[in-house]
Amino acid sequence: MDKRVVVVGGAQGIGAACVRSLAAEGAKVASLDVSADKGRSAAQQAGAMFFECDVTNRDQVFATMAEAASELGGIDSLVHVAGILAKGPAEEITDETWHRIMDVNARGPMLTNQAALPFLKKNDRSGIVNFASSAALAGYPDGALYAASKGAVVAWTKTIALEWARFGIRANVLHPSAHTPMFDDHRNKLSEEQREEYDRAMLAKVPLGGRFGDTDRDIAPVISFLVSDGARFMTGQNIAVNGGYHLV
Ligand SMILES: NC(=O)c1ccc[n+]([C@@H]2O[C@H](COP(=O)([O-])OP(=O)(O)OC[C@H]3O[C@@H](n4cnc5c(N)ncnc54)[C@H](O)[C@@H]3O)[C@@H](O)[C@H]2O)c1
Repeated sequence: MDKRVVVVGGAQGIGAACVRSLAAEGAKVASLDVSADKGRSAAQQAGAMFFECDVTNRDQVFATMAEAASELGGIDSLVHVAGILAKGPAEEITDETWHRIMDVNARGPMLTNQAALPFLKKNDRSGIVNFASSAALAGYPDGALYAASKGAVVAWTKTIALEWARFGIRANVLHPSAHTPMFDDHRNKLSEEQREEYDRAMLAKVPLGGRFGDTDRDIAPVISFLVSDGARFMTGQNIAVNGGYHLV
């Protein structure tokens, strides 16, 4: 694949799978993540570059994006995967938690998208993929703040798809379900009883196989497609890659 791609959140989980698969397909890839050791090692194994970057730090995001663009020789696509999970009853959300989650999940994509804009503008039909969640498309019990932060990503992405189409920039939103450290962290925090209930619910909720997907086989190939010229006429779309989660 003859593309120069920045993947934000490439240290583990879905982001690391995207770095691996895009690099294996011949793309020049720069991985950005706040988790430096993991990020560097994942990028090195994939044959990608790595840059430490916290998506909540405006100056760092702009400086790192410029550095990545310079090393890559330009940017054709930005894949913003980084995000954090928040769980808890809606009535217990504090201002502090609200700001922290919104900062990473909603303000983070805004900053990386803005920082990549000057480089994306230089190319014909460049692309942005931001990551939301099925939580933004349906009610998410115990996850109002997470759902709200991902709802912001959907609204932001649809709007830049309209505003930046004049620069030939496409912007789409991916709603994944995949077995990752984020998923494991969440499941491991549950009591044995809650975990059994969770696994039973998953069987009922995911028509394709009753479980979350595989990062490399189920999610990364869709990202490769969205980054490719095959997706050159797609913009502003919600793309759910989740085995049919929330269909039932
Ligand atoms: N795994 C799922 O099933 C699932 C479901 C719905 C949505 N998502 C979304 O998909 C994306 C990837 O999920 P995942 O399961 O791979 O998560 P993960 O926790 O395994 O990986 C997230 C990555 O983002 C990085 N990150 C976190 N905060 C950052 C910051 N401030 N600056 C830079 N990097 C930061 C982490 O270091 C990590 O490498 C997230 O946005 C998540 O909300 C995942």
